[in-house]
Amino acid sequence: MRLFLGFKTRYLVTKAFSPSAAVRWPRPLCTCSPAEEKPRPSMLKHLTSKIKATGPISVAEYMREVLTNPVTGYYVRNNMLGAEGDFITSPEISQMFGELVGVWIISEWMAAGRPQQLQIVELGPGKGSLTQDVLRVIGQLRQVMGAASVSVHLVEVSPVLSALQAQALTGGEGQVMEGEESVYRCGSTADGVPVRWYRRVQDVPSGFSVIVAQEFFDALPIHKFQKTPRGWREILVDIDPERDGRLRFVLSPNATLASTTLVQRGERREHVEVCAEGGVVLQHISRRISESGGAALIADYGHDGTRTDTFRGFKGHQLHDVLTAPGSADLTADVDFSYLRRCAGGVACVGPVSQSSFLRNMGIEARLQVLLRSSSDDASRAQLLRSYHTLTDPQQMGERFQFFGILPLSRVQEPRPQSGMTLEKNLRPAPLPVAGFSELTYK
Ligand SMILES: C[S@@+](CC[C@H](N)C(=O)[O-])C[C@H]1O[C@@H](n2cnc3c(N)ncnc32)[C@H](O)[C@@H]1O
Repeated sequence: MRLFLGFKTRYLVTKAFSPSAAVRWPRPLCTCSPAEEKPRPSMLKHLTSKIKATGPISVAEYMREVLTNPVTGYYVRNNMLGAEGDFITSPEISQMFGELVGVWIISEWMAAGRPQQLQIVELGPGKGSLTQDVLRVIGQLRQVMGAASVSVHLVEVSPVLSALQAQALTGGEGQVMEGEESVYRCGSTADGVPVRWYRRVQDVPSGFSVIVAQEFFDALPIHKFQKTPRGWREILVDIDPERDGRLRFVLSPNATLASTTLVQRGERREHVEVCAEGGVVLQHISRRISESGGAALIADYGHDGTRTDTFRGFKGHQLHDVLTAPGSADLTADVDFSYLRRCAGGVACVGPVSQSSFLRNMGIEARLQVLLRSSSDDASRAQLLRSYHTLTDPQQMGERFQFFGILPLSRVQEPRPQSGMTLEKNLRPAPLPVAGFSELTYK
C-alpha cells in the first residue's frame, strides 16, 4: 500500500539541530574529564548503600535502578530527547518515519479483515511524536477505516515524558489518576480518539492491538556474562575500593541463577548480553497477538545474535562511561533480535530488515516527493532532504537501525487442504505480503 498525503510537514520550517551530529549510535569513546561530570549523589549513594547491604549487583539491576528508579531514575526525571537532551531518535528527525509506521499499522489492520476495534499501543513513546504522526495518517484515511473505533494505549514509565506525550496528543496534561490504578493518565485527542497511559504492557486491555516499540527494547536492563575456564560467569557492579565514590565491574566468583538459565547451551561467543525483561515483554506480546489478533513492530539498533559487548551510555550526544555519575546519562544496549525470536511463541516473526529497506518498502521516496512539492521554500526542502538521508543513508541510521515484525501465524501460513476435501473447496486467498519487509524470512 502506498500513501500520498497532502498535509504539511511537522518540521517544515525549522529544525534547530543538525540530525547527523545528534543520532544515538556508537561513536569513538568520549574522553570526558571527571571535572565535567555533574554527579547525582542521590543515585550513587542509593547504589552504594544497596551494594554495601547485599553485595555486588547484576548489570540488569544496576541498569533498572539507574534508568527507572521511581524517584531518581534517569527516564523518570528527565526529558532527554532532542538537541538540548542526550540523543535524538527517528520520529524526532522527520514526520515521515511516524507516518510510514501509521501506514504499516493500517495495512496490518486491513490484512486482519478490518476488525471493528483497533488499539494502537506504543511502548516507550518518548515525546509522543510517533503516535502523533500515526494518528494524523489515520485521520487522513478515515474513509479507509470506516466505522472502526481507534484508541491509543501508551506504556510509559516516566511521569515527565507522559506529561509531554499528553501535551502533544491531547493538548493538555490529561486526567491524572491517583493510587494503584493500572491506567495512570487519560485524555482524548482533538478528533476524539481516547488515549490512556499504563506502566506495563500487561495492563493494556485485551483486544485487537497493533503494538509499536521504537527504541524501547534497547532501554530495558541486560545481564552480561563472560566465558571463563570455569564456565560462564555473570558480570556484576561493585564499589571500587581504590577510588572513592566510584563503581567498577567485577566477575561473579560462582555461577549465578542468571548465568545458569540465560546463557544458551552451545553459545560460541566469549561474552554475551541477555535482556530477560525484553524476553518477558516479547512473550506477552506474542500471547496477546495469538489470542486476540494484531501485530507488533519493533524498531531499534541491534543484531541477530552476533555482537558481544554493546552496553554504553549517552550524555549530551556523546558516549559516556556507564559507571560514571549514574542517573545523569542514558544507558542502552543493542537489541538481540535472535533472543526475541526465541522468546516468541505461537506467532510468526519477520525480519530484522534495515531501517533503510523498511522505509523504502513503505514508500518513503514517494512521501518525500509529496512533501517537497508542498514545501514553500528552499530551506524547508533542504531540511526534508537532510532528514530523509539521516533516516535512510547506510552510513547514518539506514543500516544500523532494524525493523522486526511479529504477526499471527495465519498471516504467513499458506492454507492447507483438509483431508478428504478437494483443493477447490479449500481455496482461500493466500496470505498477503507483509508491508515493509521485502525479503520475507519467516522463522
Ligand atoms: C530511548 S527512549 C525512546 C523514545 C521514543 N520511542 C523515540 O523513539 O523517540 C525510551 C522510552 O522508553 C521509556 N521507557 C524506558 N524504560 C521503560 C520501561 N521499563 N517501561 C516503560 N517505558 C520505559 C522511556 O521513558 C522513553 O519514553
